[in-house]
Amino acid sequence: MVRVAEVVPETADAVSIVFEENELLPAYRPGQYLTLRVPSDLTGSVARCYSLASSPHSGEPARVIVKRTASGYASNWLCDNLAAGAEIEIKPPAGVFTPKSLEHDLLLFAGGSGITPALSIAKSVLLAGTGSIDLFYANRDEASVIAADELKALEQRFPERLSVRHWLESLQGLPHPDVLRRMIDSAPTRQAFVCGPAPFMDAVRSAWTASGRLHSEIHMEVFTSLSGDPFAERVPAPAAAADAETVPTEVELEGEVHTIEWPKGVTLVDHLLSVGIEVPYMCRDGDCGTCIATCTEGSVEMVGNNLLEEEDIANGDVLTCQLMCVGDSPVKVVY
Ligand SMILES: Cc1cc2nc3c(=O)[nH]c(=O)nc-3n(C[C@H](O)[C@H](O)[C@H](O)COP(=O)(O)OP(=O)(O)OC[C@H]3O[C@@H](n4cnc5c(N)ncnc54)[C@H](O)[C@@H]3O)c2cc1C
Ligand code: FES
Repeated sequence: MVRVAEVVPETADAVSIVFEENELLPAYRPGQYLTLRVPSDLTGSVARCYSLASSPHSGEPARVIVKRTASGYASNWLCDNLAAGAEIEIKPPAGVFTPKSLEHDLLLFAGGSGITPALSIAKSVLLAGTGSIDLFYANRDEASVIAADELKALEQRFPERLSVRHWLESLQGLPHPDVLRRMIDSAPTRQAFVCGPAPFMDAVRSAWTASGRLHSEIHMEVFTSLSGDPFAERVPAPAAAADAETVPTEVELEGEVHTIEWPKGVTLVDHLLSVGIEVPYMCRDGDCGTCIATCTEGSVEMVGNNLLEEEDIANGDVLTCQLMCVGDSPVKVVY
């Protein structure tokens, strides 16, 4: 359980939830998220992910921003019920939407509540790194801009390294592809981090592709609701039969190469955990993207996928919690 230090209104339909210090909130990486357990009379609880808007390099307390989803259950419950002193169960920080280095210049594209991980990344680069940030930030109208004052203060403090381009649909319509293209073309060596509503992310992805930029240099965080409950006690995955066929597999994780025999019929995450290799995962239902990796060799298939687009799959991206080996040729997976 973590205790809420305060709940601060951000806009008419979004609040910041600030947490007290807690061992469940250890060092996190900018762009990562927490999973909150929201009580429900109907189902006992539901689990929802919220990106940390705070920076691990600023000394500020950990904070998430929750925006109400029209007729959504958990977001409205959190906005209506949490107050200073409340306690809530969380899963520790997770997620791979995080820059490899704070020394590189970055392009950030945020739409609405998609600003939360972008804010954490921007603050971290500015405060603890040397990189510069160009942020494109789209919102419905001026009143719905989350963290407007915080961004203004950062721009004043880092005028040479942070540029924020606000885009208001009420005045300018949907973000224009030419505007996105110009921003991408003006920074040919920068990687991009994108988070926002699906049409916004599609528009940025199309502009990226049209600019001829590499798929591996654009990082997308999709805000979906988990379908399962990572807080529930998990039935252990059935162990592979002793005579199960296996495929020789190399798994590269944080620079280390693990060579394993991967049994058919068992997902890669389940197998790696069963042999004591700590891989990143959260939902294990193909919803959150925490277990994403790239398959560079061999034949594999996903038994479920609620996240990856055709283009991601064509690029070799895989959700390893859903990944099974098929065929006989050796497999290589890089996290
Ligand atoms: C990595 C990640 C990061 C994210 N970061 C953020 C963030 O920073 N800020 C943000 O605002 N959002 C974020 N999200 C999205 C967030 O997790 C939720 O998807 C969002 O808040 C909508 O959840 P909701 O329950 O309100 O809406 P929905 O999921 O649309 O709620 C409807 C669902 O709730 C069920 N339901 C309805 N009533 C009940 C009930 N009484 N009991 C149980 N179930 C019920 C319905 O069956 C339906 O499935 C993130 C998501 C991910 C994956
Ligand atoms: S752990 Fe969530 S998609 Fe694999």
